[in-house]
Amino acid sequence: MSQQFLLSFKPDVSLMEPEATEQLVLQSSTRSLTFKQTQSGLKTALKTLADGGATLAELTQMVQQDDGNFLALRFYAYLQKFSKLGWLCHSVLAQGKAIAMAVPMTSDDRFSDSEVAVESKYVLSRFAYCHQVRGQLVLESPRSQAQVLLTDWQGAALLNQLAKPQSCNELVMGIPGISLETVKQFVSLLLGAQMLCEVSEDGTIGEQANVTLAQWEFHDLLFHARSRQGRHAHPFGGTYRFLDKIEPLPAVKSPMSEEVIELYKPDLETLKTTEASFTQVLESRKSIREYGEIPITAQQLGEFLYRCARVKRILKTDRGEILSRPYPSGGALYELELYLAVNNCQGIASGLYHYDPLAHQLGRISDRTATVEALLNDARRSMGQEGMPQVLIVIAARFQRLAWKYESMAYAVMLKHVGVLYQTMYLVATAMKLAPCGLGGGNSDLFTQATGCDYYAETSVGEFALGC
Ligand SMILES: Cc1cc2nc3c(=O)[nH]c(=O)nc-3n(C[C@H](O)[C@H](O)[C@H](O)COP(=O)(O)O)c2cc1C
Repeated sequence: MSQQFLLSFKPDVSLMEPEATEQLVLQSSTRSLTFKQTQSGLKTALKTLADGGATLAELTQMVQQDDGNFLALRFYAYLQKFSKLGWLCHSVLAQGKAIAMAVPMTSDDRFSDSEVAVESKYVLSRFAYCHQVRGQLVLESPRSQAQVLLTDWQGAALLNQLAKPQSCNELVMGIPGISLETVKQFVSLLLGAQMLCEVSEDGTIGEQANVTLAQWEFHDLLFHARSRQGRHAHPFGGTYRFLDKIEPLPAVKSPMSEEVIELYKPDLETLKTTEASFTQVLESRKSIREYGEIPITAQQLGEFLYRCARVKRILKTDRGEILSRPYPSGGALYELELYLAVNNCQGIASGLYHYDPLAHQLGRISDRTATVEALLNDARRSMGQEGMPQVLIVIAARFQRLAWKYESMAYAVMLKHVGVLYQTMYLVATAMKLAPCGLGGGNSDLFTQATGCDYYAETSVGEFALGC
């Protein structure tokens, strides 16, 4: 346990003294610890931890003074326990003022005391990032289970220096008025919170030399760590945080155009008895990027969309509308919308269309503008082909349908939906002897230009090429 940092309880740990008892109770959102007949020195130390904190030396002295050496040893054991519970914050002081505080986010916090050598060089982890949270500058990293609150400009100035390898001596010289002791504490705090890397004498940085970590991009690791449970304490799952604050979006988007094309509806009962078996379809499914002489027809497109993406039922609940469609969707929320950039389809003029899954109609948004052409060209390049897809299906998401209910995981769930829709499209296309190919990337800004959608309300999250 470090001598240097200011130790304090996290704000969500409260200390209570139940009336008519000698007890002290420490309570967090998940755990409580009861101290029976607390000695006065221990009581003072616990109250100090709950009320601003003190250094280990100061806390030890409080306990030793009133309760003796034996209780001081027991106090260390309590501190270890608080640390394991993720209750202990570590702060760096500069002239009596905290400049940075590491706050554990989980009970599995791996904050460790780290020895800092004055001559060694350190550099900020490429996974660490700063952002503003409720008026506070916060340093976080998907590699860390703690947040570091930068409570004074000196903390932010040190971070700026640490973008490049620096020794403690170099850091002291770079920031006016800072002491070597403060710099060492700050470096130790960041090392303990896995925000900083040591640079070896030959200039190697462990994080970069590690071939597993080297293959993680910053945004991928952050997205992974924050959209799954484990190393953060953010609310997770169907929390309905906007209930009674923001109206949920309706199940089906209003038609985008008055110029509509009624689509063909297949007879599903006949298909059930005449079509290839499931195993035949699954086993023959493959990506096809080249097409025959005769392009896909409006009837085939109608059948394909009906079998993949129509709305079967809408159900009104006291928490918004949910619905049923051929593919599965988390919470039955169905946030995905289909847009068709038609290049070459018998019976449907080239241009951009929105699929209305309830009316089973296409609404014409535009002619084949330069932007639609660019979308088709992007798809052609993605497939590595000379020719464009006959129809490019751009999958967009009305993201707030999910975000209204789900917290931390909404975008991750949406990408899963793109996956299940891709597979549904692949299988239906295979059953219909069409040429399907899922695409791995597309341009979401180009999509908003083409459709006039607000990037933050609805933009593209997947592309699927279709032909015959
Ligand atoms: C999410 C996803 C993204 C894909 N992206 C592309 C792509 O951008 N270009 C392409 O030509 N094929 C793409 N494909 C098709 C894969 O290359 C193909 O599924 C894989 O090579 C296996 O071949 P198969 O589908 O014929 O079984 C993608 C498939 C999926 C599921």
